[in-house]
Amino acid sequence: MDADAPNQPEPRPLILDVDTGIDDMIALLIAATSPEVNLRGVTCVAGNVEIHHVARNTGKILRMVGRGDVPVSIGAARPLQRRLRTAPDTHGPTGTGYVELRGEDRQLGTTEYTAIPASRYLGAHVSRHPGEMSVVALGPLTNLASAIQQGVDLAGGAREVIWMGGTLEERGNTTETGEWNACVDPEAVEACLRAGAIHRIFPLDATQDIVFTMDDLRDLPDTHLAGIVRDAVRFYVGFHQQADGIDGAYLHDPVVLIGSLLRPDLITETVEERLACDTSSDPAMAGSLYRSEADERPAVSVATAIDADGMKAELISRLGRAVGAPPS
Ligand code: BDR
Ligand code: CA
Repeated sequence: MDADAPNQPEPRPLILDVDTGIDDMIALLIAATSPEVNLRGVTCVAGNVEIHHVARNTGKILRMVGRGDVPVSIGAARPLQRRLRTAPDTHGPTGTGYVELRGEDRQLGTTEYTAIPASRYLGAHVSRHPGEMSVVALGPLTNLASAIQQGVDLAGGAREVIWMGGTLEERGNTTETGEWNACVDPEAVEACLRAGAIHRIFPLDATQDIVFTMDDLRDLPDTHLAGIVRDAVRFYVGFHQQADGIDGAYLHDPVVLIGSLLRPDLITETVEERLACDTSSDPAMAGSLYRSEADERPAVSVATAIDADGMKAELISRLGRAVGAPPS
């Protein structure tokens, strides 16, 4: 798409908050190569893996698609109050399954790691461009909650804040009623919800509508980067086979990126809910979302169903473009 062509909307300014992570990796590849998006920065948070793995994976993935120009900001190394838990069984020892994105590769150039920590990076962009920035958070909400604690008006300052997290009716993937991103840092979720800072949530109820199989990835172009993606996703499929008994994987994060910004028409059901997050010390309950009785709490728009075939086609086609394009 030619961004200067008449009738084409301006690319949407976006900050992506990630804990890269296999599905975060695919979301990054798509965000960095989709012409509808102006990726103004990627903020890193500890979650699936420790923060140094998140930062390194994020930088290298951006460089692999020729986007070393996108600033990467390093954020919270641990949740607001709790001990960090990571998910090596789900995402592999360094976050990218059977692949390890370690080592120097001069050809790929360098990443612009900014010295500004993630919460301040978010705050500076949202405050400097009121009403313009979209923030899509694909991990624990620690960076966003820290920004709020530092006085940033995410609720009123951002154009929209979208989060992949939580579950309403679907069984949790971390506890019976808890989803991973929520369970890692429940206090951060509750701080964001209390502040009205999350406008739209994509819980498991939506993201688990689509199962991606290794067969779906067969049509990706025959490139080195496609091989990396396949090796990472193969690990994720192995985990899902064991944990969920499905022959494929849920690619939560890119589904949320596409469903929120790129193809919102693929969302087939949305509900409005006043939500809160359990922050008790009971490990079986902490991180569960529940419907709040507090009237002053703003309602959140929650996506609960997606056109599965349409989403699968869109994601595979965008991923194909991302891994097929030679770095410029
Ligand atoms: C979420 O948790 C992480 O493991 C994934 O990257 C995704 O953001 C799904 O529950
Ligand atoms: Ca994630």
